[in-house]
Formats: sequence, C-alpha cells, structure tokens
Amino acid sequence: MSDLLFATNNQHKLREIQEILGSDFRILSLRDANLDIEIPETQETIEGNAAQKARFIYEKTGMNCFADDTGLEIDALDGRPGVYSARYAGEGCSFDDNVEKILMELGDTQNRKACFRCVICLISDGAEYLFEGRVDGVITMERRGSDGFGYDPVFLPDGHRQTFAEMPPYLKNGISHRGRAAEKMRKAMGK
Ligand code: IMP
Repeated sequence: MSDLLFATNNQHKLREIQEILGSDFRILSLRDANLDIEIPETQETIEGNAAQKARFIYEKTGMNCFADDTGLEIDALDGRPGVYSARYAGEGCSFDDNVEKILMELGDTQNRKACFRCVICLISDGAEYLFEGRVDGVITMERRGSDGFGYDPVFLPDGHRQTFAEMPPYLKNGISHRGRAAEKMRKAMGK
C-alpha cells in the first residue's frame, strides 16, 4: 500500500477519494501528516490553484501528494462562481451562504445550466500530472437533500432525479467531477 498525501482536511473529500482509489493507497490528510499550515490559493484558474497547492505541500514534505481545486460554473452567471466557488459569498462564508447567493442571483431564471469542473494535480516522484473531471447539470430552484457538502443540495446532474445531496455517496462518486478526475489519476498510477 502506498501513502499519498492529499492537500485537504475536508472529511467529505477524503472519504470520496479513499473510496475511489481503494485499498492500494492510504490517503493521508494534512492533519494526518501533522501539517498545520495555510495553503496559498491565489491563482486565477482552477488548474493554477491545484498546481500551486500540490507544489506547496510537496516542497514542505517531499511526499508523493496531490491537491484538487473545483469550480462551479453557471451559464446564466457568466461562469461564476468558478474559481471563487469556496468564498463566493465573502471571506469566511459558509457553504449555505454560497448556496443562498447563487439562488438569489439566479432568481427564477429559466436557464439553470451549470457544471462542476475539478482539476487534480498529482506530484509523484517529483513529476507533476494534471487530471480533469467534469459533470454537467442544472441548479435546482431550492435545496434538496442533506448529504455531501458545498453546492450539493442544489446541483442536479444531467440524467438523474436526485441532487448530489440526495444521492448515496457511491453514486455521486461514480459521476462527479472529482470522482472522474480521481479515476483518471488512479488509472495513470497503474491501479
Ligand atoms: P475546492 O477548491 O475543491 O475546495 O472547491 C471549492 C468550492 O467548490 C468548495 O468550497 C465547495 O463549495 C464547492 N465544491 C467543491 N466540490 C464540491 C462538490 O463535490 N459538491 C459541491 N460543492 C463542491
């Protein structure tokens, strides 16, 4: 089993990625590796942020590691919140504040098309690799479901009747942006 350090302390993400990568890998969080650090995330693109985070922890630890960055891109909002998805409602805001803000901005707009785009940057034995995953869907008129995190209660993936927050985790993992990017990473690592 190989150790792989994931630049996050988000328990939802850790669980998702561990399920996808399976027992060939032991995924360590920043806390597991005793890293109590603020990781910079100052780039203008999700690719840039994923690479910045992965390089930062690789330089600190020298461990094989990866970082992810995700943006929710809503057509009617010209692609916002995009790279600002985490702090869309302002510095220190909650997931719920962000959801409230996009629902307010969309109002009763009929075009509710959106996609999640995730980029994972893996640094393995010093070499850097990028993997992208995307899922298309629509933003619902109101919140549905209580699983997951972030914008899950209002994201209805195309071809499904349940929002990400109503789906069992295995189903979300099978079709989600991060699930798809992680699956590409798993294949690239030969597992
Ligand atoms: P991050 O860059 O992966 O931390 O993602 C930025 C923001 O996008 C998060 O703070 C969440 O609000 C949102 N996000 C990322 N992944 C998901 C997901 O799987 N479901 C819902 N929201 C997500």
